[in-house]
Amino acid sequence: MAGLEETLVLVKPDGVARNLTGEILSRIEAKGYQLVDIRMVEPNRDLLSAHYAEHEGKPFFDPLVNFMESGPVVAMRIAGHAAIAGVRSLCGATDPTAAAPGTIRGDLGRDWGLAVQQNLIHASDSLESSSRELALWFAR
Ligand code: RTP
Ligand code: MG
Repeated sequence: MAGLEETLVLVKPDGVARNLTGEILSRIEAKGYQLVDIRMVEPNRDLLSAHYAEHEGKPFFDPLVNFMESGPVVAMRIAGHAAIAGVRSLCGATDPTAAAPGTIRGDLGRDWGLAVQQNLIHASDSLESSSRELALWFAR
């Protein structure tokens, strides 16, 4: 059974531009997870390359980094029991067209026909990822 966990949530540039930061945070808080820290970041390529290191070399890597660099991102430290898997469930599938209604991507996201999925939110996918990503985005 998962214990108390922290996870990194990013409201991506499309979510910030569409004024969905509050809606996304509301859903996470309404589920019972706690907001521990929050900051608005304009990520540079070094941060994004480190964050998305697992995707380096894939066809969507450059469009993904360009998209993430296109505007401010809201980074949040979220805590709760089983928060990593729980927040991923709230996000829904990566492709907003396939994401189930009731999820953040399913209700609020859509496929814009662009080179990369602009799917509003990132959430850490494992304990290892969350420690690594929180250290990157909340470095002092
Ligand atoms: P995330 O890391 O952002 O939480 O999303 P995820 O785990 O659901 O998706 P992942 O496979 O890790 O991909 C990272 C992000 O890259 C973009 N992507 N676009 N073929 C595409 O158009 C495509 N594939 C991936 C998305 O923004 C995805 O969230
Ligand atoms: Mg991922």
